[in-house]
Amino acid sequence: KTPDHHVPRDPRLIRLTGIHPFNVEAPLTALYDEGFLTSPELFYVRNHGAVPQVDDAAIPDWEFTIEGLVQNPIRMTLKQLIEEYEQITVPITLVCAGNRRKEQNQVRKSKGFSWGAAGVSTALWTGVAIGDLIKRARPLRGARYVCMEGADKLPNGYYGTSLKLNWAMDPNKGIMLAHKMNGEMLRPDHGKPLRVVVPGQIGGRSVKWLKKLIITAAPSDNWYHIYDNRVLPTMISPEQSANEPKWWTDERYAIYDLSTNSATAYPQHEEQICLVNGPQTYKVRGYAYGGGGRRVTRVEVTLDKGKSWALANIRYHEDDYRYNVEENEYLYGGRLDVGWRESSFTWCFWDIDINVADMAFSSDIMVRGMDESMNVQPRDMYWSVLGMMNNPWYRITIAKEG
Ligand code: MTE
Repeated sequence: KTPDHHVPRDPRLIRLTGIHPFNVEAPLTALYDEGFLTSPELFYVRNHGAVPQVDDAAIPDWEFTIEGLVQNPIRMTLKQLIEEYEQITVPITLVCAGNRRKEQNQVRKSKGFSWGAAGVSTALWTGVAIGDLIKRARPLRGARYVCMEGADKLPNGYYGTSLKLNWAMDPNKGIMLAHKMNGEMLRPDHGKPLRVVVPGQIGGRSVKWLKKLIITAAPSDNWYHIYDNRVLPTMISPEQSANEPKWWTDERYAIYDLSTNSATAYPQHEEQICLVNGPQTYKVRGYAYGGGGRRVTRVEVTLDKGKSWALANIRYHEDDYRYNVEENEYLYGGRLDVGWRESSFTWCFWDIDINVADMAFSSDIMVRGMDESMNVQPRDMYWSVLGMMNNPWYRITIAKEG
């Protein structure tokens, strides 16, 4: 029995670590087949420890605080948050910074466990803009960061990290405290009853089981803020990083905005495609996402290792959820600030018909995405000690049989 025996879980999820803590991703095809919104059953999970147990009856009384460099410290319940603040519902994709780490581990072992390419999921999140709350606490002069802390007690203290205060106060960044996912109460693995959701940034900043927001002059000194979610310079080895703490305490190496990324769901590794008697073309397809609210503007596919590229079609499902100007209403609940509508905080789906005969003459299919600021996925991998933010061209090898 693990400490999480109270948490229901879907057998389709693939465990990436031992029995406990729970770290899982869905099979990539199953994730893709669900479409734009991921069901809570197949949503990836990244837990550092045991899931805090909260009885349903106690949920309205869940307390959290806003403290630190504020004129008006606040202690409030989830019930108050729901009753006293405007609620918004928006689609946001969460991505673990370790997504695609397996490819790094294959080149050189990093300190992290092997994620495939399904450490990414999308939900409609309901909650309150974090800036609305912090405004009420009235930050004092010198306040520059928002530290966040969860209720999960871990070997190195509670899980916590921080964000810049000006991001939290900017409605266009869309940072929120969420209590619902796809219209239902949060599931235990995803932060029940209250979590932070930071659009466009690595999942590690979206603190689950939220208990505290602490306004500070400096970034978080929480162990998990310092020793997790960083990309150290590539020449720093696991041994060197363990012996020299200065590599970890340098806030320049902390990662926030996601890097542009994409992956192929079909074909999968090991999938068999029949060359004779089958269809002439195969619809190669997958997902892509950008970081920091930047929209993916193109996805390209190559069969000759990047000598020539073909342009894929992109479907932006998030547009179905955008402001309907004619009707003068939001297609989803509540206010959404203008800049947010111009941003892209979700993944998109791409596809391209590839001639099966051309595939037969190729040794691999590779894909790369580019965002509106021309951040393009690199050809080469940037290995680092935690194996994070891996985003080189995604490759499916073609092997011929028979
Ligand atoms: N918050 C707490 N309190 N404890 C955690 O272990 N993991 C973080 C983040 N928030 C974590 C947390 C990491 S690394 C990620 S990627 C996301 O939660 C994962 O969110 P999910 O499990 O809902 O997909």
